[in-house]
Amino acid sequence: MSIDFPITHNRCIETEPQPAAQMNVAESYDGTNVVFRALRLATWGPTLLNLGYYPFAGGLSFLNVMSNMELAQQRLVRKSIELLQVSPEDRVLDVACGRGKSSFMVQALHPRTTVIGIDLLDRNVQVARTLFDQVGGLSYRVGNAMDLDFQDASFDRVMCLEAAFHFPDRQRFLREAARVLRPGGRLVVVDFAWNSDAERIHRDDPETRIVREIWQWSDFSSIPEYERIGRAAGFRLISSHDWSQQVTRPIQTLFEQLSALGGTSWGRRVLAWINPLYRSFSIEDWDQLAHAVRGHEHVRCLSKYMAFVFEKR
Ligand SMILES: C[S@@+](CC[C@H](N)C(=O)[O-])C[C@H]1O[C@@H](n2cnc3c(N)ncnc32)[C@H](O)[C@@H]1O
Repeated sequence: MSIDFPITHNRCIETEPQPAAQMNVAESYDGTNVVFRALRLATWGPTLLNLGYYPFAGGLSFLNVMSNMELAQQRLVRKSIELLQVSPEDRVLDVACGRGKSSFMVQALHPRTTVIGIDLLDRNVQVARTLFDQVGGLSYRVGNAMDLDFQDASFDRVMCLEAAFHFPDRQRFLREAARVLRPGGRLVVVDFAWNSDAERIHRDDPETRIVREIWQWSDFSSIPEYERIGRAAGFRLISSHDWSQQVTRPIQTLFEQLSALGGTSWGRRVLAWINPLYRSFSIEDWDQLAHAVRGHEHVRCLSKYMAFVFEKR
């Protein structure tokens, strides 16, 4: 009964080792490998750079401590793609695609589309290409949202997810988005916005400055301003959605919980027990995080996390 084992064992010994030159390790980690493809749909490639859309809203936000951030990030992308209302043969532009997963998700949910992701940072585009290559209809380029390197009316859909706050000139971005969209085409912009024009005076508050420095932005647009600059660029605002209770409030609560634990020695022991990597955070790091968390709460109270759906006139 045990005869198979030595034979198999001998075969292993007799097998010539593969010359290193014939190995292509990269193929284990790209779209030629079906196991890799299955893993990157679920867990591998945790490459989204957004805050996430959490299941517990408002006063129940504290329960999100049990939720998985990567899933929350994917949920935010799926919610945005739903608003985009993609049709089977559409050409879709994902502006500021980060490390490419949002573009990949559009293509995975709508396999007959052609999707192009662009991002300002070459290093993000490199990661996107590395993780999401070998997917037909999907490609990535380095590009600037305010100067889109595409022909007029060359897309049916444009998406810009949690990035426009970085753009120094959002009006110019909206004009560019209108130019590359065909008439009747749709733009979804998910972004932070001041509650009203009046909140802009808080742009230079010391707490706001902390957040501006951390996330490198000069100013938000207000909610009414988004409609104005959209109209001026050639869009009609179809709908706007306040996702603050599912995005900024839960993530703020999570960071307040983390910062509160990090601020005490017993809390730091609890964190290190949950995840030993927290030991790499110094007391100074925890102090800086507490400072940042206070700044974010200030800005959160003056702004909303919005999804705007525009149609090109
Ligand atoms: C918060 S991340 C969001 C990335 C992606 N949409 C996601 O959900 O994972 C913001 C992204 O905007 C990109 N970005 C900032 N300014 C840009 C610009 N002017 N043009 C294109 N991308 C830009 C950054 O490089 C970054 O990848």
